[in-house]
Amino acid sequence: MAFGRKKHLDNESMKNGVKLITLANPQSVISEQFRNIRTNINFMNVDKEVKTIAFTSDMASTGKSTVSANVAVTMAQAGKKTILIDADLRRPTLHPTFNVSNSNGLTTLLTSRGKEMDASSVIRESGVENLSILTAGPIPPNPSELLSSKHMLDLIEVLKQEYDMVVIDLAPILDAGETQQLTSSLDGTILVVRQAHSQKLAVKRAVELLKLTNSTILGYVMNDVDADGDGGYGYGYGYGYGYGYGEEKEKKGLFGRKK
Ligand SMILES: Nc1ncnc2c1ncn2[C@@H]1O[C@H](COP(=O)(O)OP(=O)(O)OP(=O)(O)O)[C@@H](O)[C@H]1O
Ligand SMILES: [Mg+2]
Repeated sequence: MAFGRKKHLDNESMKNGVKLITLANPQSVISEQFRNIRTNINFMNVDKEVKTIAFTSDMASTGKSTVSANVAVTMAQAGKKTILIDADLRRPTLHPTFNVSNSNGLTTLLTSRGKEMDASSVIRESGVENLSILTAGPIPPNPSELLSSKHMLDLIEVLKQEYDMVVIDLAPILDAGETQQLTSSLDGTILVVRQAHSQKLAVKRAVELLKLTNSTILGYVMNDVDADGDGGYGYGYGYGYGYGYGEEKEKKGLFGRKK
């Protein structure tokens, strides 16, 4: 298997959702790390306002859903009206995370043939103040097609008017063609890299694919950094190109922006 990426598939979060430590224990060091990630994302706001962001990765099970959900919670906690969208139609997790039904969701909106998309009928409250959620919905046979549709871009435009932040959990870029296409329409993309699992070559390829569509890479979240036996969680915001893209680092600033 290219990049050996099937080795680390973990289905736990699809069954039971991801851990929302930012809700369960906001004072913990890890919650503080998620707030740092939020702050760093805000800090990118140099040329234009960052309102639509996606989290993706090279391969599956790097922590995208955990990171996107916790970062969305910290945004809501900071008073930003936020919507979190589960657009990983192959491995959805948002409904078990917030313990809501998935009988309707993103796919319901994307397959609706009506002229007006009534997003509000499908979007749910999360139970967290300022945070709304849009679950994946029933899994279609053609997830790539649905997510690449103009409907999806229209939906993001509509949500942008309604919310301060639109946060999207996307399928891994090496597994899903639509990811690359979608990220090019957003203000920024953040790659979640799992230190122990991700392979240099795969991360490099993911970056290349994002660049091919002129997607703006806001930065990296290095997940599982220096797991030290206290539960294994550790999040750091990886600045620049920690995977040996030395030449890139010189050309670009700390946050992957051209100087
Ligand atoms: N830093 C960490 N330390 C220990 N376990 C972690 C860490 N980050 C994530 N996990 C666990 O790894 C599994 C995968 O995490 P998560 O579902 O967030 O990843 P994902 O990239 O969204 O996966 P998928 O590709 O399946 O959507 C989950 O069981 C989660 O609890
Ligand atoms: Mg996921």
